[in-house]
Amino acid sequence: MRIDILTLFPQMFDGPLSESIIKRAQAAGLVEIHLHDIRDYSTDKHRHVDDYPFGGEAGMVMKIEPVAAAIDDLKGQRHYDHILFMTPDGERLCQKMSNQLSLAGNIMILCGHYKGIDYRIREHYITGEISIGDYVLTGGELAAAVVVDSVVRLIPGVLSDEMSALTDSFQDNLLAPPVYTRPAEFNGWRVPDVLLSGNDALIAEWREQQAYERTLRLRPDLLGPDTSAPSAKPHRKKNM
Ligand code: ADE
Repeated sequence: MRIDILTLFPQMFDGPLSESIIKRAQAAGLVEIHLHDIRDYSTDKHRHVDDYPFGGEAGMVMKIEPVAAAIDDLKGQRHYDHILFMTPDGERLCQKMSNQLSLAGNIMILCGHYKGIDYRIREHYITGEISIGDYVLTGGELAAAVVVDSVVRLIPGVLSDEMSALTDSFQDNLLAPPVYTRPAEFNGWRVPDVLLSGNDALIAEWREQQAYERTLRLRPDLLGPDTSAPSAKPHRKKNM
């Protein structure tokens, strides 16, 4: 997969893209991530990329010319499956969306700043708009980093144990069960006995039960409207 990110602040990605799993995925050639400074596409002698809004609202708006030039330049080099714009009024990011994006070949992500971006960019270039939640960030960069992280870890081969993505929270509309490691006892706090039992079937059943109980308690919305009845407990297929 190839991801091209258009931003006014490429350095904001230094941390998120150069550590841990995302770093290793790039080193292994499983994903290429390219950052493009929109300012490099400004023909303005002061490299201006924003201007006052028509109609006199407060705040500055990202200009159409440098953004259009950047997108055209990249589109001229390859086909993009998705040209995404990060914005608080976009579709809310969820695991299903990340799963779908992880199947793509080439993705372009545009990060907005200031009051917004000239709307014609959104109308004529953008194929999908993503929000990471109902709050407003100073720009789309942190949101884009979240999207990249959630998508890249799903590319086959990126996680050392591929099954671990399948047991993530949200992957089957259930929160993940609790996990523990050694020591089995700390400060008198014991790990649940079943996990030390060596009985795989019992452990799997316990995990399933815990996932369901935690979801019911913390995120009942994930279970759908009718979760009060005990019969609403899902029976998951074995070996999932
Ligand atoms: N840009 C500013 N706030 C954002 C948000 N919540 N999601 C995506 N992009 C954004």
